[in-house]
Amino acid sequence: MWCPEGLHEGDVHLLGDVVGKSILEIGCGSAPCSRWLASHGARAVGLDISMGMLAHGRRAVSASTGPAPSLVQASAEVLPFADATFDLACSAFGAVPFVADSAGVMREVHRVLRPGGRWVFAVNHPMRWVFPDDPGPAGLTATIPYFDRTPYAEFDPDGVATYVEHHRTIGDRVREIVGAGLILTDIVEPDWPEWLDREWGQWSPLRGQIFPGTAIFCCEKPR
Ligand SMILES: C[S@@+](CC[C@H](N)C(=O)[O-])C[C@H]1O[C@@H](n2cnc3c(N)ncnc32)[C@H](O)[C@@H]1O
Repeated sequence: MWCPEGLHEGDVHLLGDVVGKSILEIGCGSAPCSRWLASHGARAVGLDISMGMLAHGRRAVSASTGPAPSLVQASAEVLPFADATFDLACSAFGAVPFVADSAGVMREVHRVLRPGGRWVFAVNHPMRWVFPDDPGPAGLTATIPYFDRTPYAEFDPDGVATYVEHHRTIGDRVREIVGAGLILTDIVEPDWPEWLDREWGQWSPLRGQIFPGTAIFCCEKPR
């Protein structure tokens, strides 16, 4: 699943044919996407900075009898792989919004992809930044400047940041992709489907029917 709008890779094939392909998932969390890719014939590697999330992934892998992805603990900022290791790379809301230097992540993905390889990543749609994170009517009023790149941060009682999310405008994302030497082939903005009546965090039918929540950037490394 690429996003809360329910866009499924099995339906949209943004990665193309995955059978026999080596695929890196960045910010895999408990690795539902890597596990799906492995079960569909890919040689999948799920990478995440959080050992806790990877432990959830490992438990899910052990509970299943199907083909398993490899799981790697590392930061997307410094990928522990040789140049041109992967045919494809993907991310569903993993890592990219949580690093200060997302341009560096684009360069790292370009480095580890083979020529002609695709890089597809989903993030919050940049225009969501201007609205409060509220699934109800309060989440429909623009209050936060689109051009303010100050990260959103939450802190524990000792002042240690426990959650940091970085905003990039659409133009920032395009410049980071192109600046890394990648070709941007599409930006998918999934519709809110009529059948989806569930609220989840800031995601709701009310907001989803008015403006996009997700942007999926589809890129290719030139041959
Ligand atoms: C919103 S979760 C998405 C998880 C997964 N993609 C999914 O669809 O369930 C974001 C993930 O990104 C990971 N992450 C955050 N910063 C990272 C970094 N610098 N490098 C790698 N992973 C990171 C977090 O640990 C978390 O598991």
